[in-house]
Amino acid sequence: MENNVNPAPVSLPRIGEKAPSFKAVTTQGPINFPGDYEGSWVILFSHPADFTPVCTSEFMTFATLEPKFSELNCKLVGLSVDGLYSHIAWLRTIKEKIEYKGMKDVEVKFPLIEDITMEVAKLYGMIQPGESSTKAVRAVFVIDPKGVIRTVVYYPLSMGRNFDELLRVVQALKAADEFGIATPADWRPGDDVIVPTAGSCGVAKDRMDGKESGVTCHDWFFCTKKISKDDVIKAVTKK
Ligand code: BEZ
Repeated sequence: MENNVNPAPVSLPRIGEKAPSFKAVTTQGPINFPGDYEGSWVILFSHPADFTPVCTSEFMTFATLEPKFSELNCKLVGLSVDGLYSHIAWLRTIKEKIEYKGMKDVEVKFPLIEDITMEVAKLYGMIQPGESSTKAVRAVFVIDPKGVIRTVVYYPLSMGRNFDELLRVVQALKAADEFGIATPADWRPGDDVIVPTAGSCGVAKDRMDGKESGVTCHDWFFCTKKISKDDVIKAVTKK
């Protein structure tokens, strides 16, 4: 961590806001973000630097899980404040040389943004000077098909992300939208979901009395119901 910094104000896009737009050069050609991703979910994420070990483990994992994100109609876009030739050389090294945890010959097919000017990184609050003023932190923005930010997660430089959790985040957001429910702690598809609090005393009483079919109440404000894993998976894939 860098000390004695006097951070300039930064933009920190928030949940529920439109994802700030930008144009950028990537390893897969130019992109217009988030316009090019309209109709898909997209995860925009940053990493501190090419040719570093934690980032390498993350890229190998993300690239390996890309088909699972694709099943959820979720695309991936990476970013660091390195240049395009560094990105290309690093991704080639990953494919040609790195074997890690059973992953090898890993091709990163999703775009990786070059951001030497830090313009995009600053727009998305990825430069957090208390941690580093020269590298992006590990930020994750989950953006819905209408271009609205739905989840934001920041990790420090030292910590690799949990990509199963990011898959779970997309599943949970989509399940909430599809079924009008909320998801409890550690929810996974197939686990009970939380039904919205009853809008009237009558409905709440019926629920508490066990009269609402399929709904179990732990108290008037905490009621759950089952949605099968198959139904959740069917609802959250490819939409
Ligand atoms: C890494 O990815 O290994 C890393 C990058 C920047 C700072 C610390 C670790």
